[in-house]
Amino acid sequence: MGALDFAFNASPEVLDYLGRFESMAYLGAAILFILALAGLSKQKTAQRGNKFGIAGMAFALVATIILVVGKDDRGAVLTLVLIAAAILVGALFGIHKARSVQMTEMPQLVAMLHSFVGAAAVLVGFESFFTEPGIAGVNGFHMGEVGLAVFIGAVTFTGSIIAYLKLSAKISGKPLTLPGRNIMNLCAVIVSILLIAWLVNTNGVEEGLVPLVILTVISLVLGLHLVAAIGGGDMPVVVSMLNSYSGWAAAMAGFTLNNDLLIIAGALVGSSGAYLSYIMCKGMNRSFISVILGGFGSDTSGASSETYEHGAHVETTAQRVAEILLDSKKVVITPGFGMAVAQAQFPVADLTRKLTDRGIDVKFGIHPVAGRMPGHMNVLLAEAKVPYDKVFELDEINDDFGDVDTVLVIGANDTVNPSAETDPGSPIAGMPVLRVWEAKKVIVFKRSMGNAGYSGVQNPLFFNENTRMLLGDAKKSVDDIISYL
Ligand code: TAP
Repeated sequence: MGALDFAFNASPEVLDYLGRFESMAYLGAAILFILALAGLSKQKTAQRGNKFGIAGMAFALVATIILVVGKDDRGAVLTLVLIAAAILVGALFGIHKARSVQMTEMPQLVAMLHSFVGAAAVLVGFESFFTEPGIAGVNGFHMGEVGLAVFIGAVTFTGSIIAYLKLSAKISGKPLTLPGRNIMNLCAVIVSILLIAWLVNTNGVEEGLVPLVILTVISLVLGLHLVAAIGGGDMPVVVSMLNSYSGWAAAMAGFTLNNDLLIIAGALVGSSGAYLSYIMCKGMNRSFISVILGGFGSDTSGASSETYEHGAHVETTAQRVAEILLDSKKVVITPGFGMAVAQAQFPVADLTRKLTDRGIDVKFGIHPVAGRMPGHMNVLLAEAKVPYDKVFELDEINDDFGDVDTVLVIGANDTVNPSAETDPGSPIAGMPVLRVWEAKKVIVFKRSMGNAGYSGVQNPLFFNENTRMLLGDAKKSVDDIISYL
């Protein structure tokens, strides 16, 4: 196969050298991944964190290619061609998706990407099973790893596909509430554990294939059913939960492949995904167990479901809002999902600059679950180059609203709904909310009075004495205010 067809694996010295190189390269990449996660935890350092992540992944990829080529006895050229073809297909798909995806479609894209990790773990599990099948009393531990990789991978695979279909409204967001669904799920988990135990005690491919195939089918159905039972309201939590599962699936694949870096990276993704799910549940006042058990939330549309006694709302105009802003000393902007829909972040950033230039103090108050994915608002504001020091989290700003002259609620609804604090019977009761109503004046940007927020509950804020409604698309409304300024 030509001059490139060197056979690294022939010499024990080279193998020894490769082994050392592997440990060092993987250690370096693992450190870069940890630095990436640490950087991504704060907006200020997020870009740096992202660069560490890219560097870690590039390092891991190059090191893996060198190792695979060096250890493969089919010859370097064939291996390199196969790897290059896989990278090319992946890169073309990835670049196309990254270019075409809308910000509002990110959750479903993430769900789809998780399904790839799940599928990869299942394939790696099967590959490992066929190349090193169980031999009773010798490699039972390895068969346990294979079983777990296939189980977690298959649940992640079908669960993520259902999540993708629900989030992109290709199927209904309604929870599938089959009678006895929790018992069915529990039985599926118990049978899967027994099948893994059977797989551990098998001898050869023929014996092991039966439990492995049954395990795969049960896990695929379990993933499908688990996520089908979860309603639209909880889907974003499910995405971060599947993110966690995909991490554990990758870690399991790392065990079957004997790849330390995959174990470390998988564990990082698995644990950070689990922690993110916990933060999101806390932000939405949902318990993690009740999310997993499913059955909550009817649809992703968030149509109004509650009849609520309220007075009349008072509308205002862009010109009047411009005057109110010029009279204010302290302004807080609380963006929500509507800012993402309207793509209003650029005029909002422009408005912020114009007000700041006039000596008005402008801050942003960000609710942890504003929008439709974690950090949604932070990403939009960073994209529009709003300075990080103007952006505050709920806990940092919630006690200051009493001193604020004007709050601009731009496309937010549930995250500023006072009934979360005042109405114990409300579906969002107990969810922490931004107490915008404590400010002197509140301007709410939304398109019409007909639609409720994501949770489908009416918002008494809109009918408060100090609230004015600026109806219309948020981008147009902010543009109009800027033109009056
Ligand atoms: P939502 O409660 O979803 O309300 C969005 C508001 O934006 C509505 O009042 C809507 O009214 C308005 N809007 C939509 N398009 C608009 C446009 N083009 N121009 C102006 N206004 C527009 O928003 P939120 O306060 O950000 O709350 C997020 C919700 O999603 C919470 O219930 C949260 O629990 C849920 N959720 C979030 C996450 C994450 S991680 N972020 C995860 C799960 C669930 P109109 O339609 O009348 O315009």
